[in-house]
Amino acid sequence: MSPIDHRSEPRSGSSTFTDVHLNLPDRREGKIRISYALDDRHRLLITTDRISAFDRVLGAVRYKGQVLNQLGGFWFAQLGDLTAHHYVREVDPNAQIVRTAIPLPVEVVVRGYITGVTSTALWTRYAAGDREVYGHRLPEGLTKNSPLATALVTPTTKASNGGHDEPITNAEVVSRGLVSESIWSEVHDRALAIFARGSHIAAKAGLILADTKYEFGLDPDTGEILLIDEVHTPDSSRLWVTESYPERMRLGTEPESLDKELLRLALAGHHGDPDEIPADLLAATLDASSSRYIRAFEQITGNEFSPATYPVEDRLNLLMPELTASCTPSDQPTDRIQ
Ligand SMILES: Nc1ncnc2c1ncn2[C@@H]1O[C@H](COP(=O)(O)OP(=O)(O)OP(=O)(O)O)[C@@H](O)[C@H]1O
Ligand SMILES: [Mg+2]
Repeated sequence: MSPIDHRSEPRSGSSTFTDVHLNLPDRREGKIRISYALDDRHRLLITTDRISAFDRVLGAVRYKGQVLNQLGGFWFAQLGDLTAHHYVREVDPNAQIVRTAIPLPVEVVVRGYITGVTSTALWTRYAAGDREVYGHRLPEGLTKNSPLATALVTPTTKASNGGHDEPITNAEVVSRGLVSESIWSEVHDRALAIFARGSHIAAKAGLILADTKYEFGLDPDTGEILLIDEVHTPDSSRLWVTESYPERMRLGTEPESLDKELLRLALAGHHGDPDEIPADLLAATLDASSSRYIRAFEQITGNEFSPATYPVEDRLNLLMPELTASCTPSDQPTDRIQ
């Protein structure tokens, strides 16, 4: 039994982890993660409990940061023979040391199923009559949420703060000069191999990896291509429950999903406008999302989730002496963990 029973513990919006300021250099902040330089080759990557939808942070989900951080650790270990990656080690349930990379300016989206609701989604484009999508020819007769004959790489540009990612073809990634042909060819093939492995592991855990988004970066010294950021988490992926999928397809309802489904549904009920969701509905939705994220962690890893104590900021501050001492420039980067 874990020290805290997360299933019976009251969860309030206030007991979440949304921000931290550490006495470390080069702070960078994304929608979900905060990172600092540890030395010239390593960063501390901290995952908060924030949750975003349609490129906006809408609130926080208790334990989400821990789930993402630890699930990332699990997946990088599973993928180490397919790709070099940034993961070095976990230093806290919400933080890991990673190799510093120069991120490629492309989001590498891989889709095994045709789905989605936004304007860039495969299903939205297909339903509007497009049969040539992201440079891929799609057959007639596909239905929403059905599998594609083979997984497809559908890249997007990486929008800067506040912007939206723009879909591009594989050819445009190179012709626009975003990534060189040789690097893109390697990234493309690696993404498909990682997706195949991920789908296989998810299937054994009773889940369908419907689609996902990878980020790759280059080692600043060697140019080595690294898988970075996060991998196969409920934030970067659609994870559907295999058992209920056939029945839901038969009924024409949406698959049972261990990701942001609850938030998306709440948004859909309010014209997709976060400002229209009543505060109490938003709070209840974020509360209920916590167990979905935990279930994803437990189902994929096969391990019981062991919730760490809040406040996370206090734990991270206690780590400071170790962090400033542990990672010196003489550290050898670990690109593979077994
Ligand atoms: N090893 C790494 N070296 C350098 N930067 C990294 C590394 N891994 C991840 N990053 C960057 O750190 C940031 C992580 O923050 P976060 O996940 O919150 O971004 P975000 O706002 O969600 O953006 P996105 O939607 O593109 O993921 C991203 O900008 C990512 O590119
Ligand atoms: Mg991200």
